Amino acid sequence: MTEPLLRIDQLRVRFDTPEGVVHAVEDVSFQVDAGETLAIVGESGCGKSVTALSILRLLPSPPSRLAGGSIRFQGRELTTLGESALRQLRGDRIGMVFQEPMTSLNPVLTIGRQLTEGLLRHRKLTRADARAQIIALLERVQIPDPARRLEQYPHELSGGMRQRAMIAIAMACKPSLLIADEPTTALDVTIQAQVLDLIGELRDEMGTAIVLVTHDLGVVGDVADRVIVMYAGRVVEDAAVDDLFDNPLHPYTQGLFAARPHLTPAGTGRRGRLTEILGMVPSLRSPVAGCAFAPRCAAATARCRSETPLLQSRDASSHSVACHHPGQQQAS
Ligand SMILES: Nc1ncnc2c1ncn2[C@@H]1O[C@H](COP(=O)(O)OP(=O)(O)O)[C@@H](O)[C@H]1O
Ligand SMILES: [Mg+2]
Repeated sequence: MTEPLLRIDQLRVRFDTPEGVVHAVEDVSFQVDAGETLAIVGESGCGKSVTALSILRLLPSPPSRLAGGSIRFQGRELTTLGESALRQLRGDRIGMVFQEPMTSLNPVLTIGRQLTEGLLRHRKLTRADARAQIIALLERVQIPDPARRLEQYPHELSGGMRQRAMIAIAMACKPSLLIADEPTTALDVTIQAQVLDLIGELRDEMGTAIVLVTHDLGVVGDVADRVIVMYAGRVVEDAAVDDLFDNPLHPYTQGLFAARPHLTPAGTGRRGRLTEILGMVPSLRSPVAGCAFAPRCAAATARCRSETPLLQSRDASSHSVACHHPGQQQAS
């Protein structure tokens, strides 16, 4: 078997805070094959962003701390890689797009300068060649009048245009992997769809794999090949998108779908937000005994409250779930 493009094993990330240690990511494992789109889905505070940011070690440390696990990208271990090697990967082999481009674009540099520097950092090009490539790229991401945009500052662009510029920066070096953390959440619904379509087109053209963080199951159904569902810092379900939509096994995943009664299976995607599961995401400060979802789960038993369920594949399939009683649909 060939090694996947990205393989994360038993990742643990903690934050040391004055109030105690936050167990933000706990024993998270998953893999992404070349060209594959993996969605990470879950409510706010489940550890999606911490997982995504850990890949390129973009979390401030302290307070964050890698407490265990392995991240292998193209066969290379990233958790022990030095800062200069990481900088080489960032924006070259691995691109990143965040929810709010204003925080990742530099407000005092023109769009053109930021794009050019990104490209020149990784490629031996003359400035004129870089500029020509960048104008072509801005055209590709459908930013009108690109030559004029190059002279503008981030605040002069609309939210949708800024996100397109971020995507252009992320894709400039044709990365093998794009990490996109809620890339459309801050945008209007119609612009969201356009930006997602754009990411999908670039993926198809360049063969880029994508790790897409989202809380939107509609987006998952539209673009993902595989899905991992996170709850309280752990992966609770991992499945091909069709398997997840046809047969969600974890009560939490079922709850996410139930919170969107109008959400139809993959391909016919309607959009929705995950807000309506009863109860709250637990604090990650004091790790609970047993299953973190038990307090919100109608099917929870004494075993669920004492023994943490591990992620296990069902019937040797590639559909895994961390639950002591998977597959039982909840009444509510
Ligand atoms: N800088 C930080 N300091 C302390 N705790 C943090 C920090 N960043 C994130 N966390 C905690 O880590 C957990 C996971 O956060 P995050 O990955 O951002 O969630 P998500 O992206 O799923 O909404 C949350 O409990 C959050 O409060
Ligand atoms: Mg997040």
